[in-house]
Amino acid sequence: MKFFADTADIAEIRDLAALGLADGVTTNPSLVAASGRDFMALIKEICAVVPGPVSAEVAATDEAGMRREADVLRAIAGNVVIKLPLTLEGLKVCSALTAEGTQTNVTLCFSAAQAILAAKAGATYVSPFVGRLDDVGARGMGLIAEILEIYRHYPDFTTQVLVASIRSPMHIVEAARLGAGVVTAPPAVLRQLAVHPLTDKGLAAFVEAWAKTGQKIVS
Ligand code: E4P
Repeated sequence: MKFFADTADIAEIRDLAALGLADGVTTNPSLVAASGRDFMALIKEICAVVPGPVSAEVAATDEAGMRREADVLRAIAGNVVIKLPLTLEGLKVCSALTAEGTQTNVTLCFSAAQAILAAKAGATYVSPFVGRLDDVGARGMGLIAEILEIYRHYPDFTTQVLVASIRSPMHIVEAARLGAGVVTAPPAVLRQLAVHPLTDKGLAAFVEAWAKTGQKIVS
């Protein structure tokens, strides 16, 4: 299972890469805006830190505009993945980029029907947003199960399900139980995977007991 860091914070990306928790990175316009960084310089820097796939999202929504932006973004580095919205125009650009051997991530997927179209457009990744579906009372993980089931029926569908809009470690565990290949999560959620109160409690007890022995492993 691959972990992508869903952030545009370069310090966080460096830290997660050192922990082995950043197989790739996903960014979006909101994350870039929050970083306050120049988009192009930021993507270049991220690509130099993480050799895996780095999603850079187009800002235009019309076909010609998305196409022009994709050309600029993919020239930044070999590991840039062009992130496109799941609209008919976005899918058209996805098909064209796929034919040219460029990796794509079709984002803002909220239904199985949309995921089928992303696969037909040859997307490298499709990003269903589980947290945003949960937010409106739908079952985000239900959508992941549905897409995985559908894709399994069609070996010619090579699109990978990139579980996105993750809010908690349980989302990641549920995605793993369903066999999803990739999740993208905020850095805090990725770190939270390591946390358990019984681990902290147990460790505190061991530290206390060890101190009582008066011994040192390294003197
Ligand atoms: C995916 O690529 C998006 O960047 C992201 O997962 C959106 O998550 P949000 O719903 O927390 O904004």
